Amino acid sequence: MKNVGRNRGCVVTGVAGFVGSHLAEKLLSLGHRVVGIDNFFSGYPENMASFKDHPAFTFYDTSIAEEGLLEWISSRHSGLSYCFHLAAIVSVPYSMDHEEETTKINYDATLKLLQSAEKLRFSRLVFAGSAAEYGNDQRLPLLETYADEKTRHLSPYGQAKFMASRAVASNPIGVALRFFNIYGPRQDPRSPYSGVISRFLDMALANRALTIFGDGRQARDFVYVSDVVEAYIRAAGLNDTGPSVPNGVYNVGTGKSTTILELAETIKDLTGNALPLNFCRERPGDIRFSLASVDAFSGAAHWVPRISLRAGLRETLHWVRRDSV
Ligand code: UD1
Repeated sequence: MKNVGRNRGCVVTGVAGFVGSHLAEKLLSLGHRVVGIDNFFSGYPENMASFKDHPAFTFYDTSIAEEGLLEWISSRHSGLSYCFHLAAIVSVPYSMDHEEETTKINYDATLKLLQSAEKLRFSRLVFAGSAAEYGNDQRLPLLETYADEKTRHLSPYGQAKFMASRAVASNPIGVALRFFNIYGPRQDPRSPYSGVISRFLDMALANRALTIFGDGRQARDFVYVSDVVEAYIRAAGLNDTGPSVPNGVYNVGTGKSTTILELAETIKDLTGNALPLNFCRERPGDIRFSLASVDAFSGAAHWVPRISLRAGLRETLHWVRRDSV
């Protein structure tokens, strides 16, 4: 049994984002100090409402592309040794029109953070990778090794995440987690490219028909945000029990596949929305199936996803409803 203790110094980039805010909240609840970075490109101040005044939390409104960022932060805060790097351009369509900017933020800035973290003797940098690193690979379930130089990425987003993951994974302090479809409270339903779960809940509660792009038989691996936070904690070695995770790249999903039709029916059931589904044209560039093999991370970190889709949807629904009161 390890004993990592409390009061560890953590940096969380993208702290005002959907996942970053949950991670910061958890780290603070475990007794660690958190320095959060965000420039509100896609995050929201209200995501930090529950912890912004916590005495162990400090926030900087700045970009991760800022030269010497980690050095500057480390000169103001002693004992920082864990970097959770979640800040990124997260929109795939945006990356299509902004290739250079996407490479600069999602790859170049990651590389600089990694080099700084190593030089400053951080114990670990955990990077937010993506299932998009697999392109449209249909060998399912997806193994970590399937993403390589031959992979045809569908977007600058996928390409930059792949290059960054590879750099992180090959560094002794680096762990890259490739997340599949994350959902949960604070996921933003406002854009047409928002995650399907946040969109469906939004539509269902507004008493609108759920829009299915294509035949709805396409499937995804949906993982709940608290399981994702636990994966971050374990990847960093901040859990009291379980092994230390070797540097490398690991999928984080559930290993379970859900079709969009199944998802829609479950959400209709949970919300009482009885309207027939609204079938629309298939979304251009959509992949058909996506499913993670999670054996590598389960083996290395003794991590198992604990929240079933139905339970996770209930929690998310509870949050959406509370928010609209
Ligand atoms: C996700 C990422 C995307 C990334 C891809 C790589 C999100 C929001 N998107 O896309 O950036 O490139 O993984 O693996 O995380 N759908 C509907 N109706 C809707 C909305 C969506 O039927 O109203 C369908 C989509 O057509 C798709 C599925 O639901 O087939 C999932 O969509 P989405 O949540 O956007 O995720 P991905 O397509 O997996």
